[in-house]
Amino acid sequence: MSAAAEKEHTISIKPHEAEVLKELVLKYHVNTALEIGLAYGASAMTMLGARSELKLTSCDPFQQEDYQNSGLSKIADAGFQSRHTHIKALSDQALPKLLAEGKTYDLIFIDGDHKFSGAFVDFHFAAQMIENNGIVVFHDMWMRALILIRSYIKNNRPDLIEIPINCANMCAFQRIGKDERDGMVFKEFYTRKGYVKYHINRMAWERKNLFGKAVFRIKMILKGS
Ligand SMILES: C[S@@+](CC[C@H](N)C(=O)[O-])C[C@H]1O[C@@H](n2cnc3c(N)ncnc32)[C@H](O)[C@@H]1O
Repeated sequence: MSAAAEKEHTISIKPHEAEVLKELVLKYHVNTALEIGLAYGASAMTMLGARSELKLTSCDPFQQEDYQNSGLSKIADAGFQSRHTHIKALSDQALPKLLAEGKTYDLIFIDGDHKFSGAFVDFHFAAQMIENNGIVVFHDMWMRALILIRSYIKNNRPDLIEIPINCANMCAFQRIGKDERDGMVFKEFYTRKGYVKYHINRMAWERKNLFGKAVFRIKMILKGS
């Protein structure tokens, strides 16, 4: 695999994840979707291809400089352009504008900034724009920041329930009511689960020491690559 192909493979959702995303689009009759993080367009193409009624808004400021407009080209080549709007901006600038414009969505896919602050801000706005019965989907659930956000929602947001999906690396929450929390509410959501996993994953990602290199190798063998 060339370096470019390997980068695209690493960054994009995998085929089995795309299948789960497609099933969600069909099961929930998604007509309007918002995606944070377009990259090479794998998740965008999955959603647009799954249902001809679906209109997608994507948000990603780095489409041109980091991906040479690859996602936008795929969407145009497939003839999906008329159902797609791209916003070239950071999500923490774009999402408040969409909210102020009164936009709502049946599905919001969060796969942009994976730091806790960025993904949590994406969730904060997504929770206000998701339709009743609509779903907010997160990718990269192996990451510590995402694990904590999932735990926060499960403990603090009775208006959103986690729905079971057949994919360990994604999770989905459905809006089942209004956000009626009082101003004082806060339920602890930090858990030790994931803490050790984070540090092991981080070492494998950095591959600076023997342990990190060994874990990376084992992960690659398990993945079959
Ligand atoms: C993992 S990739 C998304 C992959 C894509 N969803 C797919 O599977 O086809 C993350 C993307 O988020 C974008 N991104 C990073 N920070 C962002 C932010 N603050 N707002 C919007 N997009 C952001 C990056 O440019 C990158 O394209």
